[in-house]
Amino acid sequence: MRKKIVAGNWKMNTLLKDGMELAKAVESLEKEKSSDTLVIIAPPYTHLSRVNDLIEGVKLSAQNCASEESGAYTGEISPDMLVSVGVEYVILGHSERRAYYGEDNELLNKKTKLALSKGLKPIFCCGEVLEERESGKLFDVIREQISVGLAGLTKEDMDQVIIAYEPVWAIGTGVVASPDQAQEMHKFIRDLLVELFHQEVAENMSILYGGSCKPSNAAELFANPDVDGGLIGGAALKAEDFLGIVNAY
Ligand code: PGA
Repeated sequence: MRKKIVAGNWKMNTLLKDGMELAKAVESLEKEKSSDTLVIIAPPYTHLSRVNDLIEGVKLSAQNCASEESGAYTGEISPDMLVSVGVEYVILGHSERRAYYGEDNELLNKKTKLALSKGLKPIFCCGEVLEERESGKLFDVIREQISVGLAGLTKEDMDQVIIAYEPVWAIGTGVVASPDQAQEMHKFIRDLLVELFHQEVAENMSILYGGSCKPSNAAELFANPDVDGGLIGGAALKAEDFLGIVNAY
């Protein structure tokens, strides 16, 4: 049985004090959650070490990591550094990293492999922009992002990976994919995993939906057979909303 997961991507929001309060609130609500859903939070780098001391049931993720192991890479944070402060997961390939920081599929493949080799579990994001959907290229785009981004990974590596499908047109826009649109793409991704890896990899993979997910729309999205949870942006900044999504299961 694959895991149900709800992960909160805080992006570049909260100062340390607010972030610690939010983490504490998420941790206390997580204890009362109504399902066995795995809850992950991804605060900014500066908060990770302190937040790690405040959480137990909730798991810790970073929002990015370096593609190199160590050395003269000013401003970068390595997977080993993340592991050293208690981080277990790392979001890779978020559309904001792809669009604003030029991260391409090859670089993301390098980051994914390095993260895995250091014991971090990647939350690997993919998603098409509106123009790609409207011109019918959406499946080609996702195929490319996954086949290049996850190239060379073994079946054992894939056991550590979570995939997040985040249509770029739905991120932070208030426009949410319909349950049918989400299911259609999640099914496509699962079938692609059979083709590229193995039936078991596909069956065990948690595929999360991301993009304007809220307590009010989470239940119908999560009701789809191939939607295994969500990667949440805006609604992850309020503990009640975030746990409202967790409890949508
Ligand atoms: P959103 O962001 O929930 O604010 O749309 C999702 C994401 O970018 O992970």
